Amino acid sequence: MLKAVRGTRDLLPPDTDLWNRVEAKVRDVLARYNYHEIRTPVFEDTQLFSRSVGEETDIVSKEMFTWEDRARAESEKAQSLTLRPENTAGVVRAYIEHGLYKPGTLQKLYYIGPQFRRERPQKGRYRQFYQIGAEIIGPPSAGSESPARDAEVLEMLATLLDEVGLRAWKLELNSVGCAEDRLRYDKALREALRPVVGQMCADCQRRAETNPLRVLDCKVLEDQPIIEKLPRISQYLDEACRGHFAAVRMMLDEIGVTYSINERMVRGLDYYTRTTFEFTHGGLGAQSAVLGGGRYDGLSEALDGPKAPGIGFAIGEDRLILALQSQGGQPAGRVQAFVAPLGAGMNRHALKIARELRRAGVTADMGDEEFRLKKSFELAEKAGASYIVIVGENEVAADKFAVKDLASGEQVSVPRAELPEFLRK
Ligand code: HAM
Repeated sequence: MLKAVRGTRDLLPPDTDLWNRVEAKVRDVLARYNYHEIRTPVFEDTQLFSRSVGEETDIVSKEMFTWEDRARAESEKAQSLTLRPENTAGVVRAYIEHGLYKPGTLQKLYYIGPQFRRERPQKGRYRQFYQIGAEIIGPPSAGSESPARDAEVLEMLATLLDEVGLRAWKLELNSVGCAEDRLRYDKALREALRPVVGQMCADCQRRAETNPLRVLDCKVLEDQPIIEKLPRISQYLDEACRGHFAAVRMMLDEIGVTYSINERMVRGLDYYTRTTFEFTHGGLGAQSAVLGGGRYDGLSEALDGPKAPGIGFAIGEDRLILALQSQGGQPAGRVQAFVAPLGAGMNRHALKIARELRRAGVTADMGDEEFRLKKSFELAEKAGASYIVIVGENEVAADKFAVKDLASGEQVSVPRAELPEFLRK
């Protein structure tokens, strides 16, 4: 039997009802904050990710689905393509490619879609997963660098998670400084690593040479006591970065969004500058980050674009759904009326009634004239319907229909024109 590939999965009803409700709510909240949707391709030139996410990150060095797109003619070169492991790089590429900086205003863009990383699958970690993300990007003159953007994004996330019904989320915050801070920190890390790196894992030994910041992403248990003693980025922030971070925190305090500082959180992507953050939830086990994000003030330039500071986030939608399910009590999508044709020749009448109900906004399903009444009742109950509407010869002749409330067992006769209103109750 053929099965879905390891790390991928089918999303089935009734779970997909919850996915759709979450997405509808998210679109509603994002629209209120004046974000607009962007859809970028699912695969891109491999270089886009190596130049933005960073060559030495786990994502680029181990987890990408990359292939050589075969040349169609002798004269053509094969091109290296990659399934997107994340969407910020694609958004910034599109921002540059389409000159979205030209109006001189902030672009507030969001996306919902699949991402691909070849990680070891476990609960909350898949090789095809879904992100709901958003980016604010624009020239500094439009306010893109201001700490108010950071606070606005974090406040929106708090509202969004509250409105989708996630309880007891936690916000962890850090600042990873600017390029100059990172140079100083890089130097300090190299010095601190020199005497101890010999005792660390092979990956860390390599990272210590190529990109020491990535040592902090190491998950190897034996390396943790060494990492714990390494210098912290907060000690290397210059005054401007320190001030920026203080301003973000002050605004969050002012509006009442609670957070904790996590100096170890440097996030697994190279493009971050200044504010970085994660929201976590207790119902997720080891993969507790529901979402992550941060500022990326140099990313546009790194991709040959104009100066365009930005900040954004991506929610792991699979994890958000798991977290909501761990809270229990997610109502399934409800069928309001089950239309039951009773006897030969009644299908066409039932179809007409169902059509009228659906066009009037009632969620309706229907049986078949072949079914006995008992079977129709069973089907209506399985569908979780609130009412069953019986369409038999007498009902059609009288233009009045027997409607039974499946919870109370009460039955009444309702004139055709009053059905939609009656069933919507
Ligand atoms: P990220 O932290 O790599 O950031 O991913 C964001 C979220 O995607 C994670 O917090 C997690 O919930 C989810 N996620 C990541 N990998 C997996 C996986 N294998 N299976 C299930 N869920 C996963 C980014 O991707 C950045 N582009 C976020 C961003 C936007 N930063 C600025 N703008």
